[in-house]
Amino acid sequence: MAEALLQVRDLEGWYGESHILHGMTFEVGRGEVVTLLGRNGAGKTTTMRAVMGMLPKRSGSVKYDGRELIHLKSNAIAKAGIAICPEERGIFASLSVKENLLLPPRVKPGGLDLEAIYKLFPNLRERSTSQGTKLSGGEQQMLAIARILRTGADLLLLDEPTEGLAPVIVQQIGATIRMLRETGFTIVLVEQNFHFAATVADRHYVVEHGQVIDMIPNASLEQNREKLKTYLGV
Ligand SMILES: Nc1ncnc2c1ncn2[C@@H]1O[C@H](COP(=O)(O)OP(=O)(O)O)[C@@H](O)[C@H]1O
Ligand SMILES: [Mg+2]
Repeated sequence: MAEALLQVRDLEGWYGESHILHGMTFEVGRGEVVTLLGRNGAGKTTTMRAVMGMLPKRSGSVKYDGRELIHLKSNAIAKAGIAICPEERGIFASLSVKENLLLPPRVKPGGLDLEAIYKLFPNLRERSTSQGTKLSGGEQQMLAIARILRTGADLLLLDEPTEGLAPVIVQQIGATIRMLRETGFTIVLVEQNFHFAATVADRHYVVEHGQVIDMIPNASLEQNREKLKTYLGV
C-alpha cells in the first residue's frame, strides 16, 4: 500500500495550560476524502490547527508526503502544500469576491489561477464584483473554499463547511467537495452531520476528547449507524 499523504501520529496539543489533543492518530491517502466526526468540543478544529502549525504548543508527528512538519511554522507548512478553510470562513466584507480570491499568496507552484477557479465555481464569476457582505452564507463558504485553491495546496483542511447552511446549499457544498476530489485534491473534512459526511467521504475518523476512538469506512457506515449515533450523541 502506498504511503499516506498525511500521517498524523500521537499528536498532542495545548492551548496555554489546557491539554486538548491526547495522541490524535490518523492518516489520509492521496486523493482521499476523510472526515473527522465528533461532538462539539471533541478537538476537531484544534486538530486542524495543530496540523497547520497554528497551535502555540504541540508535539508528536505530522508527516506530509513523507516529510516531518511538526517543528515547522504555519507558513512553512502552507508551503509544503496544506491549506485550511477555517470554521469562521474569514471573508473580507469590504473586499469584492475577486479581491478575496486574489488575497491568499501562492506559496507553491500548481495553484489554480482566477480563470480556473471561476471555471470550477461559476457562481463566483457571476458575483466577482460583489462585496463580501453582499454574499449569502453559501456563497461565502464557496468563496472561502475557492480562495485556498490558489495557494497551490494539494491537501485541503475544511472545517465544518456546511455549518448553518440550508439543505439545498449543503448539497451544493457536497457537489463541490466531490468535484475537488475528482480534480485531484486530498481533503480532510470536519463534520458534525454524518448524513452529509456519508455523501462525500471515503472514511470517517471519530474524535472524542482529543483522540481518535474509531475509524469507519464509508462503505460500512450503515452497519455502524447506531454506534455512530451514540458517539455523536444524536
Ligand atoms: N483558543 C482556545 N483556548 C482555550 N481552549 C480552547 C480554545 N479553542 C478551543 N478550546 C477548547 O478546546 C476543546 C476542543 O475544541 P475544538 O477543537 O474547537 O472542538 P471541536 O472543533 O471538535 O468542536 C474544547 O474544550 C474547547 O473549549
Ligand atoms: Mg470546531
